[in-house]
Amino acid sequence: MTKSYRKYLKEILIDPETLQVRIAELGEELSRVYAESDNLLLICILKGGVMFLTDLTRHIDVPHEIDFMAASSYGKGIRSASGNVRIEMDTTAQIEGRDVLIVEDIIDSGYTLNFVMQTIKARSPKSLRLCTLLDKASRREVAIESDYVGFRIENKFVFGYGLDLDEKFRNLPFVGVVDEDALKSD
Ligand code: IMP
Ligand code: MG
Repeated sequence: MTKSYRKYLKEILIDPETLQVRIAELGEELSRVYAESDNLLLICILKGGVMFLTDLTRHIDVPHEIDFMAASSYGKGIRSASGNVRIEMDTTAQIEGRDVLIVEDIIDSGYTLNFVMQTIKARSPKSLRLCTLLDKASRREVAIESDYVGFRIENKFVFGYGLDLDEKFRNLPFVGVVDEDALKSD
């Protein structure tokens, strides 16, 4: 892999300003939804959700805590709806009786989030909702709907703004489409 992301960028799908405007809108919406909540907890799914979480939290004016969970999936072709996803790092905050909002970068097949939601649900939160920055609905293999969606996108592999290309380029301020040909020529 070369040092510059430019080689792998086919096009910018969502530019920095569009991202920030939409995230501010989501933050305002969530501030209304949780206006009466006195125990709101945002759980960011690492690593991809981290940029989104840090920007989103600054637009939520209801007092809240943040926490983190890391999940990984493997054996892509042979996954079952609950299996083959693993919690690599768990939350530390109390979940029982709280208003919990899961903050994720992208829902693709849905396996990861389905597992995460089931895991959190089993800990008896007062309410449990999901907010994803990106939704690739056409790729869904398990039925999971996000309560709040930043952008619905087509079935293209994207990177930047938290999403990685081989673990890199999460720091880019935009969401870009990967040039598959450039990857093949590496
Ligand atoms: P799912 O279990 O198939 O929904 O996969 C969700 C996870 O796959 C996300 O949390 C991302 O880490 C990763 N992922 C899915 N699509 C993309 C993409 O286009 N770019 C980068 N990562 C992706
Ligand atoms: Mg992720």
